[in-house]
Amino acid sequence: MKTAELLRQEVRDYLSRIRDAAAKIRSELSEYNPTWDKVIFIVLGSGLGSLAERVNVLKMINYSDIPGFPRPTVEGHEGKVIFASHGGKHMLMLKGRFHYYEGYDMLDVTFPVRVVASLGLKTFIVTNAAGGLNPSFELGDIMLIRDHIGLFMPNPLRGPNLDEFGPRFLDMHKVYDDHLIKLAKESASELGVALKEGVYVSVPGPTYETPAEIKLLRTLGADAVGMSTVPEVIVARHSGMRVLGFSVITDVATEVLDKGVSHEEVLEIANRASEKLQGIVLKVIESL
Ligand code: HPA
Repeated sequence: MKTAELLRQEVRDYLSRIRDAAAKIRSELSEYNPTWDKVIFIVLGSGLGSLAERVNVLKMINYSDIPGFPRPTVEGHEGKVIFASHGGKHMLMLKGRFHYYEGYDMLDVTFPVRVVASLGLKTFIVTNAAGGLNPSFELGDIMLIRDHIGLFMPNPLRGPNLDEFGPRFLDMHKVYDDHLIKLAKESASELGVALKEGVYVSVPGPTYETPAEIKLLRTLGADAVGMSTVPEVIVARHSGMRVLGFSVITDVATEVLDKGVSHEEVLEIANRASEKLQGIVLKVIESL
């Protein structure tokens, strides 16, 4: 059994890892003197990493050079913090996220979000690749996340509350920010991109869904399914960040097709569709 003292010690260790990581990033970026609450935080999902090629990259920091950062489970999959500018704004981007299915616990999955929150960032744009459940969705569609369902995953706020970040019981009435959603819609329409909208449901993975599971998730009101995002968004909201989320629909409704999903296809579709999403994200940043 974990005693109260052990739980408190774990929290102290976790907070000290967050502080160490934040201090390292702060010192690496000190020459740019960022106004932290204006820096936009972006998590680049599968296949979307090339956004970094369309902005002015100022600094890249390998996760392995940041104390306290979780270690990658797959050799050669080095994650990076990328500091960049675009349209007169600074952005802090994460290329490479920690997934629950890899074996990380939720404190590690959401560690980078805590670090970024403790640096003082206030705006979070999250992206992912997801399976389409809504029958009107097509491969390569971009879905604006209106709301989410996270009940199939452990909650990252479980355990002693980190009072310095936010409250014990977090209101989740309005997770995705109306103003950012409006900017995203305007940006998409200026670019002539048909933006879908819907509810994202997160599942633990790593298996893709069975036909029966797809039917279940659709019945529950979900439009897209993926293996990330919700834990990061919960922690971002806990820290009071405003959140905008997008899914690239990389496969659709395997229950009505006679073929399943492959990881290679997911990455290929995400790569192809990512240009559209990158365009929207860049325009949102310009208009912030
Ligand atoms: N299911 C779950 N996660 C995913 C999928 C899917 O179909 N596609 C991309 N990520």
